Amino acid sequence: MAAYDLVIRGGTVYDGAGADGVRADVAITGDRVQAVGDIAGRGAVELDATGMAVTPGFIDVHAHDDIAVLLEPEMACKVMQGVTTDIVGNCGSGVVPFGEGMMRFSRMYPGLTLPSWDGYPGYLDRVDEIAPSCNVAVLMGQGTLRMGTAGLERRPATADELAQMLAWVQAGRDAGAVGLSTGLIYEPGRYTPTEEIVTLARELAGGHGLYASHMRNEAGGLLDAVREAIHVGETAGIPVQISHHKASGPEHWGRVRDSLLLIEQARARGVDVTADQYPYTAGSTSFYAVVQNGAFRKTAKAADEPQESGLGTVRAEDVLFASCPRRPEWEGQTLAALAEAWDLPPEDAAERILDVEGQAAFVVIFMMDEGDVRTVLRHPTTMIGSDGLIAGEKPHPRLYGCFPRVLGRYARDEGVIDLATAVHKMTGMPATKFQLRDRGVLRPGAFADIVVFDPTTIRDTATYEEPKRYPEGIRAVFVNGVAVARDGAHTGARAGRALRRGR
Ligand code: ZN
Ligand code: CU
Repeated sequence: MAAYDLVIRGGTVYDGAGADGVRADVAITGDRVQAVGDIAGRGAVELDATGMAVTPGFIDVHAHDDIAVLLEPEMACKVMQGVTTDIVGNCGSGVVPFGEGMMRFSRMYPGLTLPSWDGYPGYLDRVDEIAPSCNVAVLMGQGTLRMGTAGLERRPATADELAQMLAWVQAGRDAGAVGLSTGLIYEPGRYTPTEEIVTLARELAGGHGLYASHMRNEAGGLLDAVREAIHVGETAGIPVQISHHKASGPEHWGRVRDSLLLIEQARARGVDVTADQYPYTAGSTSFYAVVQNGAFRKTAKAADEPQESGLGTVRAEDVLFASCPRRPEWEGQTLAALAEAWDLPPEDAAERILDVEGQAAFVVIFMMDEGDVRTVLRHPTTMIGSDGLIAGEKPHPRLYGCFPRVLGRYARDEGVIDLATAVHKMTGMPATKFQLRDRGVLRPGAFADIVVFDPTTIRDTATYEEPKRYPEGIRAVFVNGVAVARDGAHTGARAGRALRRGR
């Protein structure tokens, strides 16, 4: 008789809380870790982890897979890189109310149809019914809530509209959503006054979730935008998560030192502010939003709109089309190349693309400084989030490579952070912040979400040219005690659950 279901033997265990690795065996029965140390009893399955790192499963705090986990529940792009929990609903983009959620995600899944759900309680139940390969936690996207009440109106919400949004937030909070997210460069989030966000955020006071924000500006207005995010959390009395912390546009590079200082000052006052980051110098978003925020825009901005681009200066050669559902032949081409082929200035080429694709095209944009990426990664308030978007044939490579890139390139090869710190930023740190109980740590009693990888070979192989490539060096990935990936192949197992805050 085996004493345990599984014993991972002889690896170097990183506990996820930031401690250095120690040589230990890990025993698992059912969905929980039973013991860590020198384990005499045998496992029904024995995994020799000699030379391997054994860590808690990675938590992707910045995901947009709300619909992907239902339609592509094996979630290979994530579990193959060691992600065992996906936190969806970022950047204000959510799935409640259902109709507006479908509208939003049909940009990624043209022709999308699904049986409807009722609010976040219904969505979380649906995730449990489908059972994806990874666990899923959800943020409530404020942009979609507002779309479902005030539509695209550029004004504060009325009392009735606000009451409806509050009702959705209360129901979602009680069902276990992990917080509220905003996307303040997007429609209709950008029309939301700060105090309206505070009103919604107050519903989460007292430890019932956090505020995550894709801020109003990541370029010239970065510092004011950080102040606004902090103000929301501080006034409402809830923790703050700054999404994909960066300074966008060459004229603003280096400014992350000041934004990090603002975070430090707020923390010194007792506000729980942290951030997430993907380890690349390119971002990715909808092309419509890029133009609307002032890059390659032909029409003049309204007087009440910020006149400077919220992305800083963007050059046409730095904009790469990731997804063009109507003209897939544009995918992998830059705006500069398309403009040249059409013999048009970039602004006219942009207009032509929007005429054809509407809001459905997504782009990769090179707009960050490598030095800034390292400065942010090194900072103790930064955790890891991929911000991956499943769309088109040339998605941003972060969708497939984010976590191994931090471990391989930034920790091992460049020594920007040490391995234990890198693991902490993708496990224990996010689990604490997002209140994912018994996750993100490797100790007896914790859920058996575990990654076994070779620290000497782990690396991302996804590139901008060939983004859909799985990483190397990951030996095994377990979700709730079940192997979902072994030796570079998905096992097909769907062991994930909906995670409800604090439960
Ligand atoms: Zn975002
Ligand atoms: Cu995002």
